[in-house]
Amino acid sequence: MVKILAFITLFTSYLIYSGFVYSIGTESTVIPNKEEQLTVTKGKALYEKYNCVSCHQLYGLGGYLGPELTTAYSDPQRGELFMKALLQAGGRRMPNFHFNENEISAIITYLKYVDATAVSYKKK
Ligand code: HEC
Repeated sequence: MVKILAFITLFTSYLIYSGFVYSIGTESTVIPNKEEQLTVTKGKALYEKYNCVSCHQLYGLGGYLGPELTTAYSDPQRGELFMKALLQAGGRRMPNFHFNENEISAIITYLKYVDATAVSYKKK
């Protein structure tokens, strides 16, 4: 009798837990709309074309000459305008790529998207 009760309790908990695990995380606020998706893709392409990864890391991967960019967008010390300024004019070691406004906003939208996906990364 005790074994049956234990089985029923464990099995029910398993069902409830599975239901819970499989239903969270499916709705995400991170998915950009169609229009933004194109901009994100364009920004990503620029990020790859100009080899930003040689100096910058996303999720810890990349070069170490420049700062980590995963959470730069939501970082109160950096944020959108700061990133924009560096992309427009370069920095002491960050090269000036002479991007136009469109390219800059695409790159920033891409980094904003990356930032939005970094849910657990930010807690560290
Ligand atoms: C030669 C190495 C190098 C390359 C290539 C490079 N960066 Fe940087 N970047 C830096 C450095 C170093 C800084 C910090 C400011 C400085 O010292 O000039 C920086 C700063 C930044 C910042 C400001 C954020 C912060 O935390 O300071 C952004 C945004 C950025 N880079 C984006 C890019 C993008 C996008 C590309 C590719 C188009 C790129 N960088 C390519 C070296 C680089």
